[in-house]
Amino acid sequence: MDVIRVKNDVEGGKKAFELIKAGMENDIKVLGLATGSTPETLYQEMTGSNLDFSALTSVNLDEYVGLDGSDEQSYRYFMNDRLFNQKPFKETFVPNGKAQDLEAECKRYDQVIADHPIDIQILGIGRNGHIGFNEPGTSFDVTTHVVELTESTIEANKRYFDKVEDVPTHALSMGIGSIMQSKKIVLMAYGESKADAIKGMLDGPVTEELPASVLQNHPNVTVIIDEAAASKL
Ligand code: GLP
Repeated sequence: MDVIRVKNDVEGGKKAFELIKAGMENDIKVLGLATGSTPETLYQEMTGSNLDFSALTSVNLDEYVGLDGSDEQSYRYFMNDRLFNQKPFKETFVPNGKAQDLEAECKRYDQVIADHPIDIQILGIGRNGHIGFNEPGTSFDVTTHVVELTESTIEANKRYFDKVEDVPTHALSMGIGSIMQSKKIVLMAYGESKADAIKGMLDGPVTEELPASVLQNHPNVTVIIDEAAASKL
């Protein structure tokens, strides 16, 4: 994996933006996008740029079960608010957390991914090493699936909700198998709370106990980290 060390998330966002820009010069068609605080500076770079994304399609990693796109805590709302409202894409896909039949929604989303092979996948990382919402113990082969969130993930994500009881207990997530099919992956991590996960991902064994470690098996990964996230390397 190619590791780029940056001063902070602002510089990290600029580096990730450069990679997307270079991809666009090479005619990429599909961006895999992520939510959370980590990619926010990248989205600021994108919205502040004069680039036109209207020929690109986006496929997002995940969504909370039970939240509608109009709900401010939903990932659909996050993406519209941070990126798509300012910079229209050709088409944008996020799993439907309100689907009546979640298994059918997973199958539908797998078809979306199959129809729109991801050129560059943007990733953050959870404190326990999860990517998307693929929690520790998830098989590396899974495609889109329903996930029961771990306590550590609920705890980490409660800051977006009024109270911890409001955090959904389940999510829909693109599987690790699908993430690994992306042609290129750019993972960003900032802050000390990510240092153990980054150490395990880069230096540890490839294990389902630390989902991001699977990226050691991918031929084209760039990791963008600040000093705090790199502090245990
Ligand atoms: C959530 C998302 C992940 C994200 C992680 C870290 O669990 N599903 O895609 O990487 O949070 O979030 P943050 O970037 O806010 O630390």
